[in-house]
Amino acid sequence: MSGEIVCPGDKSISQRILLIGSILNCDMEIDGFLDSADPNSTLNALNEIGASIKKEQEKVFLNKRNIPFHEPINDLDLGNSGTGARLILGLISGLGLRSKLVGDSSLSKRPMLRVIKPLIQMGAKIDSSKGTLPIFTIDSEITNNFKYEMPIASAQVKSCLLLAAIAAEKNIKIIEPKTTRDHTERMIDYFGGDINFGKKENIGEIDYKFNNLIPKDSYKVPGDFSSATFIIVATLISSHSEVLIRNVGLNKTRIGLLKVLKLMGANIQITNQKLESNEEVGDIIVKSSKLSGIDVPEHIIPNIIDEIPILSIAAAFANGVTKISNASELRVKESDRLNAISSGFSKLNINHEIFQDGINITGTIEKIEPKEIIDSFDDHRIAMSFLVAGIKSKKGISVKNCKNIETSFPNFRNIMNSLGMKIDEKN
Ligand code: S3P
Repeated sequence: MSGEIVCPGDKSISQRILLIGSILNCDMEIDGFLDSADPNSTLNALNEIGASIKKEQEKVFLNKRNIPFHEPINDLDLGNSGTGARLILGLISGLGLRSKLVGDSSLSKRPMLRVIKPLIQMGAKIDSSKGTLPIFTIDSEITNNFKYEMPIASAQVKSCLLLAAIAAEKNIKIIEPKTTRDHTERMIDYFGGDINFGKKENIGEIDYKFNNLIPKDSYKVPGDFSSATFIIVATLISSHSEVLIRNVGLNKTRIGLLKVLKLMGANIQITNQKLESNEEVGDIIVKSSKLSGIDVPEHIIPNIIDEIPILSIAAAFANGVTKISNASELRVKESDRLNAISSGFSKLNINHEIFQDGINITGTIEKIEPKEIIDSFDDHRIAMSFLVAGIKSKKGISVKNCKNIETSFPNFRNIMNSLGMKIDEKN
């Protein structure tokens, strides 16, 4: 692998700027937006309730509108996007709109009670017979000064509640058991919101007091660190390689995997670090490295939750055992990711032991030979992770159903192949 590429836009931030930008109701140009299925589902759902968002070539434009948000005529279809569904549910509850939220078969199985319960405590009226999509929102009345101690570390829950409070013009205090990605807080801060966030004795505490956010005419979305990690690990595990990834989001609550990979012996450097639209960005230089297995520190798990599939691939080619635990959230992502990783490893003869909240992986120095086609379980990060593992096989790896890669990284195959991989068209 060798060369230089610009990191595609951040999925979490692309969705948040559409939501918060629509509340701001102003003319705004968004640069670096991730034009992929998940942010596009959120964009379409917002336009259904009266937002005025247009895509033109590489840019997205929010337009000031004269009409307020309104009840949608059609169902709000969030496709595969957990972030889209949970965050827009917060916004709609805060606005008190009647709506029906639906999604694809994977999203329709994912747990929604984690947002429904606190929203109902806040005064939302929500109907969901099974605690999954479809969800119906009725007229809600959000209370002031709601305080919520989150039982699980989830940026989606936190952001959902913050959006409900902003839309309803109320104050809210949220306590999270471990710090999770803070893009929503940073964005509120960027637009002049009265928000305090950060760590208090190792616990995340967010205190938002309603004030009117101040519009700006532009916003720049940084590159998605989670997407960059596929390039990083591919470069680390292949020989004589060096890649430069430009414009990667380096928000501290997202880059836990850099710490983990460095503990494993990775040669990774950061340059050109700067702050843009209140988010850290920079360039990453990565070189082939000899990796060693480690016990992944438990406190870091919420910060690497989306990167565990690709970390598992790095671990599969490291010297020794890598232990990942306290990661049961992986079971309720786009697929049961612990199960999906284990299934792929069994087909590749990678020694591993799976348990309820984690997996131990014993690395190999042998070239891998898949016994059967790998199942992506319709999960973009599982598909991309096993395609990266193909670097270590003699004849490449076939992965079943890679269509969902388009939810987060539509140019994955072209970018990886431009850097020297050979991912087959049929994947
Ligand atoms: C996200 C938060 C994470 C992450 C997801 C995106 C977000 O989920 O796994 O891909 O944009 O807030 P949880 O907050 O549920 O852990």
